[in-house]
Amino acid sequence: MKKILVAYFSASGVTARTAKEMAKAVKADLYEICPAEAYTDADLNWMDKNSRSTLEMNDSSCRPAIAQPVKDMEQYDTILIGFPIWWYVEPRIVDTFLESYDFSGKTLIPFATSGGSGIGKAEKSLKEHCPNAVWKKGQLLNGTGAAEWAKRMIGA
Ligand SMILES: Cc1cc2nc3c(=O)[nH]c(=O)nc-3n(C[C@H](O)[C@H](O)[C@H](O)COP(=O)(O)O)c2cc1C
Repeated sequence: MKKILVAYFSASGVTARTAKEMAKAVKADLYEICPAEAYTDADLNWMDKNSRSTLEMNDSSCRPAIAQPVKDMEQYDTILIGFPIWWYVEPRIVDTFLESYDFSGKTLIPFATSGGSGIGKAEKSLKEHCPNAVWKKGQLLNGTGAAEWAKRMIGA
């Protein structure tokens, strides 16, 4: 039987709600990509050139540490991976996640929430960081429809 993981990063709770709804709908395990050091409101201020998020996103080699690894990633065939769009792409901590495991042959399905930007640029970046996975088309999920989309994507 296919075992599914919904892995997500969420700085202010929007993506978390979507991820939880999805995990319930497709009976998947849920894993939060928790930063070793939580983001404060000041860290998330994209109008501040010196905020933590701005500095991280300006440095493509930045890999913020994750608090806890996934328990036995081997058991999962399909991973739905969710995140907020930051500066049109995925937050750097998602790159940390992608580079922490061997996803060869596993199916990865991205989803995102945003203030309006699309997921296209992030999808391209995700593939560059993890070329060995089998990537399915991603989806921006602002608002409703997460459960139905996830079911369709995993063929449930
Ligand atoms: C540092 C930062 C950069 C962001 N950049 C974008 C962006 O480029 N385009 C966009 O539409 N929204 C952007 N947003 C808004 C978030 O994508 C949006 O609020 C998202 O739903 C937050 O999800 P979360 O609560 O799971 O963290 C940005 C937010 C932050 C904190």
